[in-house]
Amino acid sequence: MNTQVLKPDEKALELAGELLRNTELVGIPTETVYGLAANALDGNAVEKIFKAKGRPMDNPLIVHIADISQIDSLVSVFPEKAKKLAQAFWPGALTIIMPCSSNVPFQVTAGLKTVAVRFPSHKTALEIIKSAGVPLAAPSANLSGSPSPTTAQHVYDDLNGKIPLIIDGGESKVGLESTVITVATEPPTLLRPGGITVEQLENVIGKINIDKGVTQMLDTNAIVASPGMKYKHYSPNAKIIILNGNQTEYINYINTNKDNYTGALCYDSDIDKLTVPYVSLGNENDYTTQAHNLFTALRQLDEMGLKTVYARCPDTNGVGLAVYNRLIRSAGFEVINLA
Ligand code: TXA
Ligand code: MG
Repeated sequence: MNTQVLKPDEKALELAGELLRNTELVGIPTETVYGLAANALDGNAVEKIFKAKGRPMDNPLIVHIADISQIDSLVSVFPEKAKKLAQAFWPGALTIIMPCSSNVPFQVTAGLKTVAVRFPSHKTALEIIKSAGVPLAAPSANLSGSPSPTTAQHVYDDLNGKIPLIIDGGESKVGLESTVITVATEPPTLLRPGGITVEQLENVIGKINIDKGVTQMLDTNAIVASPGMKYKHYSPNAKIIILNGNQTEYINYINTNKDNYTGALCYDSDIDKLTVPYVSLGNENDYTTQAHNLFTALRQLDEMGLKTVYARCPDTNGVGLAVYNRLIRSAGFEVINLA
C-alpha cells in the first residue's frame, strides 16, 4: 500500500473523512501525540488498527470526539464527576473512562464495560473527526512497543506501507499521551499521568487514587485497571537504564561504566560534565519541556547507534510524574539506586 503524507488542506481533510467512513485508517495529528484513527463505531475498521500496530487485542482504545454531543452515543451515563472534568479540561489532553454504551464495538473496549473518551484540542484533529462524521478510535500511531510519534515523519517511519494516509499537522505540542482517569471507581483513579496533573484534577473533583501501575511494574498476567500499563512500552533499540542519584553520582557512574556504545539521556546542566554522546531533555526543573522532548529524544538515541543509555531519574512532581511513568517503561523498569 502506498502511504500518502498530506498537509491539512480542504482536499486532504475531505479524503481523510472519506477513507475513515470507508473502513480505512488515517494517521492524525493531535496536541498530545499522533493518533492512528478508525471509525470507532465500525468493529472491522477498528480491527485494522490492531493489525497495523501489532497491538495486543486486549488493550482498549480511546475514542475521540469533536463535539460534546457525540458523547451520548458512547456512554450509558455521563457521570457528574466526568462532566466536571470535561468542563474543566475539554477540549484537551484528558481521557475520561466512563460506563460504556452498547453501540461501542467490543474491539474498541476490549470487552470491558467502560469506554475511554477524549475531546482533543488540535484544530486539524477536530476537522478530521468532523469530516469523518463519526467518533474516531485512535491509539498512538507507533508500532506497538516503540515510542509514541510526535511528528508525521515518526508515523511514516513506523507505518509506511501499512496505512493509506497521514495528515501532517506539525509537531505535537504536549509530546506525551493524554492523562487517563477513570470515574468508574469511587474515588476516581488516575491510570496514566500526562500533561494534566494530579493537582489539577483534584482541584476540580477532589481526592483521586493513583493506580499502582503508574509507578510500578505489573505482572503481565495480572488483571489490571488499564491493560496498556502492563506492556513494555516506548522502548528504543538501545537499552535504557535509569540512574537514581544526584548529578555527581550520575556522572561518576557513567564515567566508571562506559564503553564505546554508551550514551546519556540527561539534562542541560549535565552536558559539559559528560564524556559520552548524549541527548538532553532540557532544563532539570522544566517538566513540561522534558515531556515535550522525551519521545523525540528516545528516537534520536537510536539513530546514534548506542547500546546502553543511562538516564537521569526524573522527579515525580507535577508533569514530572508523566515523564517518570514513560521513562521507567522505556527502561523496562530497570533503575539503579546510586545513593
Ligand atoms: O493522547 C492520547 O491519549 C493519544 C492520542 C492519539 O489521543 N492516544 C493514546 O492511545 O495514547 P493509546 O492507545 O496509546 O493509549 C490508551 C490507553 C491504554 O493504556 C489503554 O489500556 C487505556 O488507555 N484504556 C483505553 N480504554 C480503556 C478502558 N476502557 N479502561 C481502562 N483503560 C483504558
Ligand atoms: Mg500508545
